[in-house]
Amino acid sequence: MLKILRVAVCSERTRMARSERFRKYCNQVADIEYPKRIFSGIQPTGSVHLGNYFGAIQRWVELQNSGEAVLCSIADLHSITLPQDPQKLRENVMLITATLLACGIDFKKSILFEQSKVSMHTELCWVLCTITTMARLAHLPQFKEKSESLKNVPLGLFIYPVLQAADILLYKATHVPVGQDQAQHIQLAQDLAQIFNRKFGQTFPIPHALISDNRSQKIKSLREPTKKMSKSHTDSKSRLNILDEPDVLLEKIKKSVTDFTSEITYEPDKRQGVSNLINIHSLFTGKTPEEICKEAASLNTGQYKLLLADIVIEKLSPIRNNILRLTKEPAYLNEILKEGADRATELATNCWTEVIGKVFGNDLRDVKNVKNTAKVM
Ligand code: AMP
Ligand code: TRP
Repeated sequence: MLKILRVAVCSERTRMARSERFRKYCNQVADIEYPKRIFSGIQPTGSVHLGNYFGAIQRWVELQNSGEAVLCSIADLHSITLPQDPQKLRENVMLITATLLACGIDFKKSILFEQSKVSMHTELCWVLCTITTMARLAHLPQFKEKSESLKNVPLGLFIYPVLQAADILLYKATHVPVGQDQAQHIQLAQDLAQIFNRKFGQTFPIPHALISDNRSQKIKSLREPTKKMSKSHTDSKSRLNILDEPDVLLEKIKKSVTDFTSEITYEPDKRQGVSNLINIHSLFTGKTPEEICKEAASLNTGQYKLLLADIVIEKLSPIRNNILRLTKEPAYLNEILKEGADRATELATNCWTEVIGKVFGNDLRDVKNVKNTAKVM
């Protein structure tokens, strides 16, 4: 018993010492000037849903519009970790490009590009794989979740988070806006930045996750409101897609799972279903859940669902129309992606040259003088 206790106390001490060391290290790195740079990615795997919209895309647009340097990557390399039909994948790349533009990404202000068109992502991924352990990757929840139903698990799915770390570090990104489900992947990127810096000398800033506030960090499934809204859920009624037609949105909201209480109250721990609907309402209108409950005091859940459907349809219609218009212009979309890839390549080359110098001792250029000179804007 004593022995077990001693081990527990020791491991707690080790954990605290480690996190203290990490805190000090982050402070030191923060002292080194890195320009603020935002990076995020989204997989081209079909129409985006409200979870993607509120948890990620809307935040990128806000950051971009507040003058930040934002890189938006269409993570096609990540998407092929599960089987994809090439033709369908191309269509999905066009669709997500149109969606990001329709949601407010401005390709002149931000860099919008396809990940596979900048080959340094995979090259840096390889270098990072050499400093990652299998034990570290095996515990990541997304891998566990996605591999659960597979008999033969592709290696790509296992190293998926290392590629994500490479995405972020290749641009020396300082901030990464994502939904809560990606938090552990960003932690891995932080760890790898730290390990690389220790081994090869200061190279990468420690990237910070920008996780949105409570209500948008995890939009829940309409069918199983204890789970997140997800592209991969088999029941399409579980998610509200930006591209859904008005009658489909109405039907999905009407059929959303709530409980046997008919009043509209906001209790995210006890009444997940109705609280999720209130969250969506709140995110679209800017009203607080309290204000919404007050306004809906005379309604039962059935009537409230109709009210919410009207709001969702009204807010999504202009975005949907814009997406449909843009997808009819593939040449224009390809041009934007090409320009984005050129700008991303310029930034990435700076960092990759520095990494090669440090890892292989190549004298490609005086690595001490490599600065973050290429500009996002
Ligand atoms: P994915 O659909 O997995 O490519 O996710 C793209 C982005 O949307 C990531 O930043 C996710 O964290 C975010 N995201 C996905 N699902 C949700 C959700 N249900 N709630 C909030 N954010 C989400
Ligand atoms: N893995 C992310 C997701 O499924 C997408 C992604 C790829 C990403 N590369 C990234 C997100 C880099 C943030 C930073 O949502």
